[in-house]
Amino acid sequence: MADRKPLISGNWKMHHNHFEAIQMVQSLSYQLNADDYSHCDISVHPPFTDLRSIQTVLESDNIPILLGAQHCHEQEKGAYTGEVSTGMLEKLNVKLVIVGHSERREIFNETNSQINAKAKAIFKHHMTPILCVGETLDERDAGIAKDKVKIQLDEGLQGIGKDRVGSMVIAYEPIWAIGTGATATPEDAQEMCAHVRDCIRQISGKATAEMVRVQYGGSVKPVNIAELMSQDDIDGALVGGAALEAESFARIAQYRLQ
Ligand code: PGA
Repeated sequence: MADRKPLISGNWKMHHNHFEAIQMVQSLSYQLNADDYSHCDISVHPPFTDLRSIQTVLESDNIPILLGAQHCHEQEKGAYTGEVSTGMLEKLNVKLVIVGHSERREIFNETNSQINAKAKAIFKHHMTPILCVGETLDERDAGIAKDKVKIQLDEGLQGIGKDRVGSMVIAYEPIWAIGTGATATPEDAQEMCAHVRDCIRQISGKATAEMVRVQYGGSVKPVNIAELMSQDDIDGALVGGAALEAESFARIAQYRLQ
């Protein structure tokens, strides 16, 4: 297996105000040690209103947790009420930005071409996109899960150079497993993450496909993380519900100790 450093990411969605966020990150940092950080990268993706507070805690206490965002706008600036640009995120020392999460696609109607523009805007400001892909239950039952993911990758990665694609993170998240408690079996998750890598190989070549980190997401918990991480093509996890509490997120990041 290629030497890809795992990435465990906590997507807080619309949870934790900035006071709760500070407490959560401090408590998480007490539970993690140097070994954990050397074994895997760990990122937290709080709501926008928490970013500055968390940045201050991480930098003043030298905590090597990576700061992430959940969303961004593709334009540099302008009359886009309510939106936040990638330049603004870069200034907060944000390193990773989630794009194309299924909730953004389904609730806010984001298209593959918008997601592609966001990924490019993230690179322009020296951050790394975590591009989410995944199928609905109907698509899985209809046998078109792989086709759906291929289209999301073909269109989402359009015009992005090989080196950049290689530095990206792709999160495979079957929509039916998000927040439902239903996790894909490790074998199904592996099959789809291998498919993601194969799509990247077709788009950007073998060397790029070996570099890209593929996360699994969808009801990841302390009890199922170790088996998921033992699969060849799974290089990390994008965690929602179980990332909201410091103890469970720390146990997920320490999956190798199980
Ligand atoms: P979940 O969410 O872990 O609560 O299923 C995952 C996600 O939406 O990224």
